[in-house]
Amino acid sequence: MKKIYLLTVLLAGAILLIGGQAMAAKSSAELGKELFNDPTLGGSPNDKTCNSCHPGGEGLEKAADNKKLVKVINQCVTGPLEGNKIDGRSVEMRSLKMYIQSLAAE
Ligand code: HEC
Repeated sequence: MKKIYLLTVLLAGAILLIGGQAMAAKSSAELGKELFNDPTLGGSPNDKTCNSCHPGGEGLEKAADNKKLVKVINQCVTGPLEGNKIDGRSVEMRSLKMYIQSLAAE
């Protein structure tokens, strides 16, 4: 009985680990750029995108240093885009951050 229990726990752990890695692998600067140009980001009902006000990421070159990056991104999502807050640990937010960080490197 104990062995079966242990095996189940190990299996569940392995699935969680693999699942987590698959999700992390999906975050990318490329996806972030797509979302930056996506009018439906955060469930936005209007046709504004991040790119409407920050064309090509212009003016955000120093934003990667912002310690409250997730917060300011969400301010723009819930403000002008009229969307819902995006979770800081989600693939979407991680990708947006990666895109903004890639602007600093250019
Ligand atoms: C209606 C225009 C508008 C839209 C649309 C918009 N923003 Fe902004 N954003 C601003 C303004 C205005 C500021 C504050 C002034 C500034 O720093 O440029 C700002 C600030 C920011 C900052 C902080 C800049 C810094 O240097 O710290 C980030 C990051 C940012 N926006 C990202 C985004 C993202 C991501 C989106 C899409 C979800 C978006 N913005 C959509 C107008 C907009």
